[in-house]
Formats: sequence, C-alpha cells, structure tokens
Amino acid sequence: MKKIETSFTQMMKCDLPIIGAPMFLVSNVDMVVAISEAGGVGTFPALNYRPIEAYREALQQMRARTQKPIGVNIIVNKSNTRQTEDLKHALDHGVNLFITSLGNPKQVIIDAHKNGAKVVCDVTNLEHALKVQEMGADGVIAVGAGAGGHAGPVSPLVLIPWLKKELKIPVIAAGGIADGRTMAASLALGASAVSVGTRFIACKEAGVDQSYKDAVVKASPEDIVMTTRISGTPAAVINTPYVQKMGLDLPWYLKLLKNQKFTKKFAVPLIHLLGMKTLETAATGPTWKTVWSAGQSVGLVDEILSCQEIMNKFVREYEEVVRELPPVR
Ligand SMILES: Cc1cc2nc3c(=O)[nH]c(=O)nc-3n(C[C@H](O)[C@H](O)[C@H](O)COP(=O)(O)O)c2cc1C
Repeated sequence: MKKIETSFTQMMKCDLPIIGAPMFLVSNVDMVVAISEAGGVGTFPALNYRPIEAYREALQQMRARTQKPIGVNIIVNKSNTRQTEDLKHALDHGVNLFITSLGNPKQVIIDAHKNGAKVVCDVTNLEHALKVQEMGADGVIAVGAGAGGHAGPVSPLVLIPWLKKELKIPVIAAGGIADGRTMAASLALGASAVSVGTRFIACKEAGVDQSYKDAVVKASPEDIVMTTRISGTPAAVINTPYVQKMGLDLPWYLKLLKNQKFTKKFAVPLIHLLGMKTLETAATGPTWKTVWSAGQSVGLVDEILSCQEIMNKFVREYEEVVRELPPVR
C-alpha cells in the first residue's frame, strides 16, 4: 500500500493523511471500515446510531472488521445528552480518534488520553484553536469556507497557514477537499491531513437515497447555499426547489422564540429537531421536501465510486499534481 507520511499519520499510525469526515445520516459502518482499511481514518458521528444499543453494535461490527484506526465524532454541547455514554462505549471498543464539534472538548480530551486515544477539535478561527490547544487537544480541524455542514467564514487559503503559523499542534484541513489536487494544495498550505466529507456522500457504501448521491454528482458549487433553518446556525445545503420555497432563514416566530431569554432553551432544541427530521426524510427516501446537506466541493464530484476507489484516486492524483508542479530553475 502507498504511504504519504505526515505528523498526522505518525500520530495515528496510518498510511494516508485522509480522514473520512463524520457526516450526520451519511457515515456508516461500511464507510468507516473501507476508509480505514484503505489507509485513512474512517469516522462517524455517534448520533448516527440511535438508540445507544445500535451505536454499541456499530462499534462492535467496525472492530470485528478492521483493526486499523477508526474515529468517532462527539458533539460536545449541552443539548447532546448522550455524550458521556458515547465516549465510554467508544473507548471500550478501542476507538483511536475523537473529533469534537460545537462545544467544550475538555472531558473528551481527558478521558481519551487516559485510554491512549487522540482528540482533534473542529475550529473555524484562531481563538477557538488556541483554547483547545491549551486544553490538550492533539490537533485541530480547520473548517474553512465552502465546507459541508457548519462551514467557517474564513477561506481555507488563509485559515490553514494562519493556524499552522500560530499553533504547535497539527492542523487538519476541512472544506472543499475532494480529490488529490485539493489534498496536495492543503498539505502545501501546511495541513498535516485532510478531512473529507462531501466527496464521500457519493460513495457506493453510503446508505443514503440514490437521489441524494445523484444530486451531489450533478450540483455545481453555485448550487450550495447557507441556511439557518436546519439548526439555527448557517449550514450548507443544495439549493433545491424545496429549499428555495422555504427560504434560507428561520420563520419570524422561531427567530423570536430563539432570541428571547426564556424561550431560547426550548426553541433551540425544537429548531434542531425539526431540521434533523427534514434532513432525515430527504436522506433516506424519495420526498418532495429535499434538503440535502453538502459543501461546495460538489463541483469536484463527477461519479459515484467505492470508498477504496476514492482513496486510490486521491493518492494517484496527489502524486501527479506534486510531480507536475513547476520547479524553480
Ligand atoms: C452531509 C454532511 C453531514 C455532516 N455532519 C456532521 C456531523 O454530524 N458532525 C460534524 O462534526 N461535522 C459534520 N459535517 C462536517 C464534516 O465532518 C466536514 O467537516 C465537512 O464535510 C468538510 O467539508 P467538505 O464537505 O467540503 O469535505 C457534515 C458534513 C456533511 C456534508
């Protein structure tokens, strides 16, 4: 198997600096196993498996099928009531990498380190990156503009070298990386690895509806819009007729409830619940309510491939791009 060695691959003891990014409703056991077996690190959001028994079973299956490093994404904000249990089961099953998002990762870092696992934290700016470095994180995932999910506002061209310059821990690039060319660019900018989401929606192993995969293949970067309707904070989706009909902002009454001190506590989980339900309906079967989560790298996705084929393609293209860079004479 080919290898690309970086501080990330040394830390994770894997062959390729590629993380299969955790994707709500998309990442599954088959994808995690295939990406890890191909030399990267496959990861998934713990909440993709509900109830908790299904999550434990998923971890068991992954561990039965691969001994390579695997990762779990834990949302570390207060609304996630399962985080302590999710962390414990993951550690019991020898999960090697944790990706934290949306809150304070301190407890995950402490417990993971006691068990020899590593923790990398999603960040979109230097302030947050310095905080998690101070807490003991093993790396940051720099989520730049154009990413799928909750994209950051800063261009990856600036975000990656900015964080690289200011931090002592490895920086992993996320957002807009979908092939060997974008991976080479990210490593040139100073990243130790890339975290790839959108490209893997259009993989054979994903259990999402065929229409979702086809939409990712067909869409152009200009079809991606940011909506607050799913979670209250801007998230990237494909601009389907249903998204256009609903508008990109919360209806006035939900906004009002979200912004009032006394109703906020109930309004935020309600917005999440409604948004997740809509995403789930669109991801799992045909519906006219199509809200499909994806980032701008849809423009670089031309076909549905297996995870192994996607990983091979990354390495092949990376080699070509690096070889063809103009030398200094
Ligand atoms: C469909 C979809 C679902 C996602 N779900 C999650 C999630 O549950 N937790 C999380 O931390 N990030 C999530 N993300 C963000 C990804 O982990 C990753 O940061 C992002 O996809 C990278 O950008 P890219 O899509 O341009 O590759 C999601 C992204 C997509 C496209």
